[in-house]
Amino acid sequence: MRRKIFCIVAFISFGFAVGCGSGTPAANDAPTNATLKEPATGSADNSKGKGKFTEVKLSHPLDQKMIADGKPVFDTKCAACHKLTDEKLVGPGWKGVTDRRTPEWIMNFVTNTDEMIDKDPTAQALLDKCMVRMPNQHLSDVDARNVFEFMRNNDGKN
Ligand code: HEC
Repeated sequence: MRRKIFCIVAFISFGFAVGCGSGTPAANDAPTNATLKEPATGSADNSKGKGKFTEVKLSHPLDQKMIADGKPVFDTKCAACHKLTDEKLVGPGWKGVTDRRTPEWIMNFVTNTDEMIDKDPTAQALLDKCMVRMPNQHLSDVDARNVFEFMRNNDGKN
């Protein structure tokens, strides 16, 4: 009896494995398939995330007024969960965040947090790591841009 159950379970798992895998291995093996793939349909380039920011203009040198205005935003709305070092608190430390992510990704993440966590692969991976879902902080676009400049300053950009 035991043996019979084992066989049934083994059979079902095998069926699943085949079912999930069907199609993909062959596609990965065949180099010619790569050229047949759909061109960027939005899923191919995730570097900018999802949201209304498609191009963020950066100022050089940094905008000191934005940095000054970004600091209180950080202090009141972000510091509870983010350190300025690379150490994790609730969320990842901000050191290097402006190198890890594009300006557009950061602006979209900060202003469109829920959709980003639901749909963006990078944000989802962060959620898996941190195990806490970052709550939407309801920043205005101006506050978001100011706090982003504050991050650039924290990363020693100029
Ligand atoms: C309640 C805790 C919490 C607060 C408050 C919070 N965050 Fe987060 N943040 C997180 C977590 C957790 C993550 C990791 C992604 C996830 O789980 O959603 C994250 C991720 C991020 C990331 C991506 C970091 C990376 O390494 O790519 C940025 C940028 C960010 N937060 C900005 C902000 C800003 C700006 C504020 C303040 C306006 C803020 N966060 C407030 C918890 C928080």
